[in-house]
Amino acid sequence: MAEETLKKEDTLAMRLKLIGQSCRLFYSEDPVKIVRARGQYLFDENGKSYLDCISNVQHVGHCHPAITKAAAAQMELLNTNSRFLHDNIVLYADRLASTLPEKLCIFYFVNSGSEANDLALRLAQQHTQREDVVVLDHAYHGHLKSLIDISPYKFRKLAGQKEWVHVAPLPDIYRGIYREDHPSPGQAYADTVKHLIEEIQQKGRKISAFFAESLPSVGGQIVLPKGYFSKVAEYVRSAGGVFVADEVQTGFGRVGSHFWGFQLQGEDFCPDIVTMGKPMGNGHPLACVVTTKEIAEAFTANGVEYFNTFGGNPVSCAIGLAVLDVIEKEDLRGNATRVGTHLKDLLKKLQAKHDVIGDVRGVGLFVGLELVTDRERRTPATKTAAWVVKRLKEEDQICVSTDGPWDNVLKFKPPMCFSLENADLVVRCIDRILTDVTANDLKLENEDI
Ligand SMILES: Cc1ncc(COP(=O)(O)O)c(C=O)c1O
Repeated sequence: MAEETLKKEDTLAMRLKLIGQSCRLFYSEDPVKIVRARGQYLFDENGKSYLDCISNVQHVGHCHPAITKAAAAQMELLNTNSRFLHDNIVLYADRLASTLPEKLCIFYFVNSGSEANDLALRLAQQHTQREDVVVLDHAYHGHLKSLIDISPYKFRKLAGQKEWVHVAPLPDIYRGIYREDHPSPGQAYADTVKHLIEEIQQKGRKISAFFAESLPSVGGQIVLPKGYFSKVAEYVRSAGGVFVADEVQTGFGRVGSHFWGFQLQGEDFCPDIVTMGKPMGNGHPLACVVTTKEIAEAFTANGVEYFNTFGGNPVSCAIGLAVLDVIEKEDLRGNATRVGTHLKDLLKKLQAKHDVIGDVRGVGLFVGLELVTDRERRTPATKTAAWVVKRLKEEDQICVSTDGPWDNVLKFKPPMCFSLENADLVVRCIDRILTDVTANDLKLENEDI
């Protein structure tokens, strides 16, 4: 098939006519049409290249030849469902097990992060024989109904909070209730969960699970304070619940120093259930839940088969194995550490120059740049952030987007092959745009941009 089958305006017209309008486009006012990609670069219908700072799904790089080759070879040979005995599913589970603490050893393969979290919810509820769940404020765990219910990021705009869902404060040390000047923010935020559990118990309810993203993403690219997860796990387990770490965005070495985001919380911490997705298949729909023997046995004990038509098929697992090989062979974790540190250092230097930069945070290639109109009050500079995103796209062909409850955090989660030169370029361009905003005294927050 040609790179472009339809003219851009026809594609857009057909999309408007045929595709549900709640499925939004990036840059909705002037969308880019991408027809091919390689590594960290996207190419539009005219061959113009865009630097991709946001595709965390194409983890080892867009259209990596090793992944394409593994997929094609397995597709040519066999693709069945996982009721037939096959090597790939067990070899893949075994490779994943080698990245995880020993007690996380039973795998269920699914097709999306949402399916993984929905199954995690079922596992937790079946194991504990309880319903209630504690989640972090602003969290997003997926698009299924069960997950909208446990995602404040979504349910606050919809039907609201269910009586079995309880929201703990987001441990955001820049903007949250305990900040960077607190002597022990990990403990202080964990105590908020402890108190919430006590309140839940006073109402005669019992918790089944605590769900958290290992680094909350739509919450604003948050790095959780040290010690938080261990303490929360202690409180949750002593109340009879289990700890679910959502690694859908953060797993597979994105944080560089560790394979899993939850490992940033220390050697002594191990969740009871981990969910994974996005980067796993480099764009192929592949996701997973891993848990302990005990929880898996409780799930089996209900006597009902868990069958997932596509989950864990030979092609998906061949791709998953190839992704793990590329992460290792190309030292992508090392790259995430080197490039992520460089990017953060450059952004911190920029912070000294531009008052609009309130905070720079992140680990590895998971970095956030929070813009504020007033450093003291930390007032979100939402429109300035949107302006920077727009100009980066139009003037520099760089794709960045925003996150956080006020959409004022520029987020960087590029393919893991992102280079030092890519980081230099992005920061140089942001510097130019912010200098322009200041020099022209653009009052973006008051304007309709
Ligand atoms: C943290 C987190 N969990 C779960 C999901 C849901 O994954 P999917 O879109 O693959 O269903 C997402 C998707 O954005 C996510 O960011």
